[in-house]
Amino acid sequence: MVEAFAVASGKGGTGKTTTTLALGMALARRYDVTVVDADTGMANLLFHAGLADAPVTLQDLLAPDARGPDGAAVDVADACYDRHGMRVVPCGTSLAGFERSDPARLREVVAELAADTDVLLLDSPATLASKSAVLPIVLADRVVVVTQPTIPALSDALKVQEYAASYGTGIAGVLFNKVRGDLGSVGTQAERYFEGPTLGSVPDSDAARAARDAGEPLLAHAPDSDAAEAYRAAAAGIDPEANAAGDVADRFRSAVVPDRP
Ligand SMILES: Nc1ncnc2c1ncn2[C@@H]1O[C@H](COP(=O)(O)OP(=O)(O)OP(=O)(O)O)[C@@H](O)[C@H]1O
Ligand SMILES: [Mg+2]
Repeated sequence: MVEAFAVASGKGGTGKTTTTLALGMALARRYDVTVVDADTGMANLLFHAGLADAPVTLQDLLAPDARGPDGAAVDVADACYDRHGMRVVPCGTSLAGFERSDPARLREVVAELAADTDVLLLDSPATLASKSAVLPIVLADRVVVVTQPTIPALSDALKVQEYAASYGTGIAGVLFNKVRGDLGSVGTQAERYFEGPTLGSVPDSDAARAARDAGEPLLAHAPDSDAAEAYRAAAAGIDPEANAAGDVADRFRSAVVPDRP
């Protein structure tokens, strides 16, 4: 069984990468979890996961000839790292590597990963402005929408929801992040515009910033923090579907990469 989730927000800096790793760790208590840095243009999950020195990454797999830094052929397993109870697939940060990479190859990579995991979490780029930015939403079964309870962030999040719907991708729920105090009237009213449930509300947290600085996922760095607790509660609201791995892999492989975002 496998279900693929894109963690997306439209807006930058809302906490997608933090959320991907936090939900991944929480879900890993019940499922076999794989997280992928599908933000291939501005990859930085590796810095959140202590993988800054990873020798082989997704970027190598997306190169037309799939060659690693030493010129040797690489396969998907070479870019998988067991960290914090999950399988983590980081993406390199070189501009030349990104320019060389073919985003459409992500389909084949996730198809292979889907064969051997229960939950695939795709950390997605901000914006909807390029093929590489929209592909995780096109591929995923459902989107976890991460937003702050502000009008600009919500506007972008709703655009993501609309875009997902146009590709038949569902909404797993909306997660409010960096919340100061209670959700406030903007956040509370926003709930009615999202199709999925509200998964939770993660407080603005020094622990989250400190975790990033330490290069560790929040749930490893500060498991007792309020933010970590909120992420665990949010993960409990996600019930992954048991889609047949072969069907999901076939769908990934045959997904049409949109010509225009
Ligand atoms: N709940 C939180 N409280 C405080 N800071 C947070 C919280 N969640 C994330 N952050 C911080 O906000 C910054 C951006 O977080 P993150 O990288 O996860 O966002 P992102 O949406 O993936 O960004 P990008 O759009 O650049 O990919 C990081 O410094 C992170 O530590
Ligand atoms: Mg990010």
